[in-house]
This record gives sequence, C-alpha cells and structure tokens, in this order.
Amino acid sequence: MKGWRITIGIGVALIALSGAQLAIWGTGEEGLRVLIRSSARSSVLLFALAFSASALRSLWRSEPSRWLLANRRYLGVSYAFSHAIHLAALVGLGRVSQEFVDSIDAVTVIGGGLVYVFTLAMALTSSDAAVRALGRPRWRALHWAGSWYIWIVFAQSYLPRAVVQPAYGIAAVLVLAVPAMRSAAWFRRRARQPQTA
Ligand code: HEM
Repeated sequence: MKGWRITIGIGVALIALSGAQLAIWGTGEEGLRVLIRSSARSSVLLFALAFSASALRSLWRSEPSRWLLANRRYLGVSYAFSHAIHLAALVGLGRVSQEFVDSIDAVTVIGGGLVYVFTLAMALTSSDAAVRALGRPRWRALHWAGSWYIWIVFAQSYLPRAVVQPAYGIAAVLVLAVPAMRSAAWFRRRARQPQTA
C-alpha cells in the first residue's frame, strides 16, 4: 500500500475502532475516556513513525525504511486524523462531565491548543503544491518546529505516566526513541561530511 490509500485505510480503521470502543464502553464518560486514551496511543505511534522516517532511513538501509520515508507524508496526515479523534472525544467528554471541564486550565488550553494549530497547519501543507507555495525553507521551518513541539507535549504526557505505571514504558520508549534516532542519524551524516579545515 502507498500514498493516500494509506491515510484512507488508517482513517477507516480508526473510525471502526472508535465505533467499536463506544459500542462496548458506551458513549458516556467511560467510553469517551477509553477513546481519549486509544486515540492518544494511535497518534503517538503514527507521529513517531512519520517523525523518525528520515533518521531510520539513514541508519538502516532496508525496504521497510525506504517505504516509511516514501510514505511519511501520508502517515503524518494519518496522525492528524487520529489526533482529531482525541479532540472530538475531549469535546464529547466536556459535554458529559462538568468535573472534566472544571479541571481544564489555561496552560492545557493554550499548550494543547498550539499542538492542534501546528497539526492543522502541517496537515494542510502536506502537498507538493504547498511546499512550492511556501518555499522549502519556510515549509521546513514550520514542520520542524511543529514536530518538535508536538513531540514535547507527547513526552510530557507519557514520561511522567511511565514513572508511576510501568505499562506506559512502551509509549515512553517510543517517545524517547525518536530523538535518539534523529541524533544518531545527525551524527552519522556529520561524520560522513568531508572535512574542510
Ligand atoms: C487540548 C487539550 C487537551 C486536553 C484537555 C486533554 C485531556 C486529556 C485527558 C483528560 C486525558 C486522560 C484520559 C483518561 O485517562 O481518562 C488525556 C490523555 C492523554 N492525552 Fe490529551 N488532552 C489534550 C490535548 C492533548 C495533546 C495535544 C496531546 C499530545 C500531543 C495529548 C496527549 C495525551 C496523551 C499521551 C494521553 C495519555 C493517553 C494514555 O493514557 O495512553 N493530549 N488527555
């Protein structure tokens, strides 16, 4: 599978999964919290795949890494769709739980909201036409800043959870693997550059 078919396939699978979860746990607080957690997990997985594709390709020349790099745009837009489910479930939770609404502070709204602003901007500029219209340096700056900001929010969500609940270790390892791979790829590229001095 390649191209936009990936995004459509993942989108359909996520809608089916969300529907099944709401059918099992109900559309009240319990079901919506299940959906919030599962959409955060599908989001971090898709985001990590898209954000580490280039590093993985440099470190591990193989067919899977070639596929990942060629299709990272479609995985990135799939992440945006998955994260839209997180947002939709949060809105739903806000309608059924006043306690949840009262627990939201300005830091959460601004810090989390900025993730959605970046996610939308990055999804809308995921095309060759957008790269041409923005110019490559501006496009790269937007996607670089947005990706790192989104990574920070995932890290501050999952790493403290992993400290108290070992089951979150998998998510924590995934989150930490991204900068580890990107740094390793950066050092490798630097080492391969011809010395000019
Ligand atoms: C915009 C405001 C946001 C609010 C109010 C919010 C609220 C919540 C709530 C209440 C939960 C816990 C659900 C439960 O365990 O019952 C949760 C989980 C989580 N959220 Fe959000 N969220 C927001 C945005 C974000 C963003 C932008 C990200 C990441 C970029 C994110 C990542 C996560 C993660 C990683 C979890 C943990 C999921 C798990 O337990 O596996 N959230 N969020």
